[in-house]
Amino acid sequence: MISNRVSRIQPSFTLEMTARAADLRNQGIDVIDLGVGQPDFNTPKHIREAAKKAMDDGFTKYTPAPGMLELRQAICDKLERDNGLKFSPEQVIASNGAKHSLSTACQALFNPGDEVIIFSPYWVSFPEFIRLADAEPVIIQTIQERNFTPDFDELELKITSKIKGVILNSPSNPTGAVWDDETIKRILNYAAENNWVVISDECYEQLVYDQSFTSTEFLNDDDVQVLTIQSLSKTYAMTGWRIGYCAGDVEIIKAMGKIQGQATSCPNSIGQKAAIEALTGDQSTVKKMLEIFSHRRNKMLERLNNIPDVTCTYPGGAFYAFPDVSSYIGLSGNGKKISSSFDLSDYILDCARTVTVAGSGFGRDGHIRLSYATNEETFLEGLDRIETVLNKLS
Ligand SMILES: Cc1ncc(COP(=O)(O)O)c(C=O)c1O
Repeated sequence: MISNRVSRIQPSFTLEMTARAADLRNQGIDVIDLGVGQPDFNTPKHIREAAKKAMDDGFTKYTPAPGMLELRQAICDKLERDNGLKFSPEQVIASNGAKHSLSTACQALFNPGDEVIIFSPYWVSFPEFIRLADAEPVIIQTIQERNFTPDFDELELKITSKIKGVILNSPSNPTGAVWDDETIKRILNYAAENNWVVISDECYEQLVYDQSFTSTEFLNDDDVQVLTIQSLSKTYAMTGWRIGYCAGDVEIIKAMGKIQGQATSCPNSIGQKAAIEALTGDQSTVKKMLEIFSHRRNKMLERLNNIPDVTCTYPGGAFYAFPDVSSYIGLSGNGKKISSSFDLSDYILDCARTVTVAGSGFGRDGHIRLSYATNEETFLEGLDRIETVLNKLS
């Protein structure tokens, strides 16, 4: 009854962890959730007001499939203002979140038998978008000691004529790593030589702490086909509104619009009005959130690096830390052997009542992902609890 396509993909692992935490809470258990993948702030008021006005004005009907012209123009203005990129509205499609743009891009670009490079640790959905397009992911490791930048020796070895594209994600979920311009240029060079399309997932572009963010397209001197995918979800605390977008070559954007028109008709009209206000209105809340996240990052890293045998590379962006906990794998606790980061995450949930996400889910065992998109007091309490239960392993 069910198609083969479904059996080729995994359910969203991070959404499952969120559901598990909610279940425990519903049972009255005091759970600390360090698995969260969204800002803990409400959407800023002026954006909410714009949505209310849209509803009251009857702006409640279908819009063009790639989104309203006014929104696509606002996206072009934003890309120029923040990223130094020049696009026109026909080169832009608004979608139901960056996730939707990423999956539509894969549907529009890849055929059965094609291969697409992703870098491990990878965001859990990348391999699945590729498989849903009947293509195959080719996984290249990144090197922790080099800020989780790619192992280019492995990349060289794995290049074949089947490879059609590469997905980049800087700042990265789960590592928080922000790649330097040289690394991105190197990938663009490979893309130019091998005629790959580069899909650049930049949904955390506004959450970069120690440097300014450079969009992949900004470094593109060789006419590589780059799709720039960004989102309103994290920047404006709008995860539930489901608005993201993709900018790139007109033919690719048109192809994506054709798929989107048949799949969802258009992004939701009220969300689009809210997005216009978010992109063109007061940006001060973005700066405020950035300051709060930056402070929390420092606190979390300081605390984490004080836990015996835990090391964590300093994340330059997003709101995740991805500590190396491999020293604890192979030990036993609570009557069970800890054989993987999945086991360790389960053990921490059972004994410390704290949700973490196992690195294995992102293709890198020996790590767990911790989010600081929660208040300082809560995550420090979570880290205390984690330290206590790690100490009990032997
Ligand atoms: C790397 C990455 N890309 C895309 C998304 C999805 O963002 P959106 O809410 O815009 O679909 C997420 C959300 O967690 C993410 O971490």
